[in-house]
Amino acid sequence: MSDRAPSPDRARLEVHGISKRFDATLALSDVSLDVRAGEIHALVGENGAGKSTLVKILAGVHVPDAGRILLDGREVHVPDPIAARALGIAVVHQEPRLFPDLSVAENVFLADPPRGRYGAISWREMRREADALFEQLDVRLDAGAAVRGLSMADQQLIEIAKALSVDARVLILDEPTASLSAHEVERLFTIVRRTRDRGVAVLFVSHRLDEVFALCDRATVFRDGKHVVTAPIADLTTADLVRFMVGRAVTLFPKAEAAIGEALLEVRDLSRTGAFRDVSFAVHAGEILGLAGLVGAGRTEIARVLFGIDAPSAGEIRLGGRPVHLGSPSAALRAGIAYVPEDRHRDGLVVDFSIADNITLPILPRLFPRLLVHRSAERTLARGYAERLRVRTTGVEQLVQALSGGNQQKVVIAKWLATNPRVLILDEPTRGIDIGAKVEVHRIVSDLAASGLGIIFISSDLPEVLAMSDRILVLHEGRIAAEVPRSEATEERVMFAATGQVAATLPVSAPATRTGAGGGDA
Ligand SMILES: Nc1ncnc2c1ncn2[C@@H]1O[C@H](COP(=O)(O)OP(=O)(O)OP(=O)(O)O)[C@@H](O)[C@H]1O
Ligand SMILES: [Mg+2]
Repeated sequence: MSDRAPSPDRARLEVHGISKRFDATLALSDVSLDVRAGEIHALVGENGAGKSTLVKILAGVHVPDAGRILLDGREVHVPDPIAARALGIAVVHQEPRLFPDLSVAENVFLADPPRGRYGAISWREMRREADALFEQLDVRLDAGAAVRGLSMADQQLIEIAKALSVDARVLILDEPTASLSAHEVERLFTIVRRTRDRGVAVLFVSHRLDEVFALCDRATVFRDGKHVVTAPIADLTTADLVRFMVGRAVTLFPKAEAAIGEALLEVRDLSRTGAFRDVSFAVHAGEILGLAGLVGAGRTEIARVLFGIDAPSAGEIRLGGRPVHLGSPSAALRAGIAYVPEDRHRDGLVVDFSIADNITLPILPRLFPRLLVHRSAERTLARGYAERLRVRTTGVEQLVQALSGGNQQKVVIAKWLATNPRVLILDEPTRGIDIGAKVEVHRIVSDLAASGLGIIFISSDLPEVLAMSDRILVLHEGRIAAEVPRSEATEERVMFAATGQVAATLPVSAPATRTGAGGGDA
């Protein structure tokens, strides 16, 4: 694709005066932006700011109402995804868009499969090229397996492999790291940097500001569909970025001290074959217990057993000192356990229900007769949570599928908060949500703990898990590798345990950074 040699500082991609309206929502209003060849350009902003809308316009998914797109100074039109591909625009979308019944390799090469001598698709070649791409990403995925049933992380990796299979002039990544483990993120960053160094223009959308600072050369902030600022990363601080995004200063990680009470939930020698083994711990009233570990370490599997989705193969679960049998999620809910799942699309939302119906969904009268509320009371409750989490919407009657990715996740969180549990299990609760809502989720979790709930907080976001947890259990390959109290928790210590290394090998001079993205005032 490199018919033109990249020259530094030259705009490879320019958008001028782009606007896009969806019914009542003006998603983008007259935005302009340029990405240079050989640059990684961050695009940040709150949920609903219009980032994915711009990405989809560049990918040929949406057609803008107004504005122009230029590639290497020449105006181009992107009426559909095939045109985007032909122009050398490769896109990793925020939500994986894979075909569940096709194989991994078929998904990677869907648009442009390798062909043999007589133009027939070469399956063997396809498998070989897919394997090569995965090797480059350092992931173990069976290229011949069907996509159905794969985790979000694996699906995201397939999307990334798909984008890398194109010889791109522009590479656009819309929150590519949301489901990835630290190791996979590092691999991806190495590849993205290499891609940039080959002269590709990279646009990188992320809510993780530590990633933005680690990876990007310049950043652009959108707020409410408008361009706010573009500046070199070197000229910006976390506090600046947050202020531009939210429009005000924000205090990160507002964890309050809470009195730790009696054990609410105890787990003894709990095992599930193939998932985790001999796991023992207790969660106390007022306590936030962090579960850290790499993707696949067994954190979600433990949560699923505690919520009665999967059965344990051995061990005991006690609630309030008494052994319980949690045969189903409704039994767990009755026992006072609520679970915000990791894969909020598959497990969390009815996308063609309204926001209000989704939030009040689990409060089924059968489970909670006392909460048999009027429709209007339901709406008030839903509206309260939607406001608190700053769901950007035209109203709680809006259908969930018309919300931006992050706003959909806020609805799931609101839904489980509304069940009034004793023990709340949160699985990656702030993945993909913006900094303002993240702080709000942290505040709500901290308040819930202070009011006596026991909280199990699963997160791959290390700064977050370090700042919010009273105690951290680090899982490695299905076993508890370390238990770290808040006062001793550092990123190094958790990462060492998570990757199966023993603490004794820790360099003594390791700096005791508590948070990578910067705690305290921003
Ligand atoms: N297909 C659609 N129909 C109706 N409204 C839409 C549609 N797609 C996006 N919107 C609205 O446009 C606005 C911008 O959404 P967009 O997905 O671009 O946000 P975003 O910046 O990517 O947010 P996030 O960080 O949550 O992914 C939101 O208010 C959203 O509800
Ligand atoms: Mg988005």
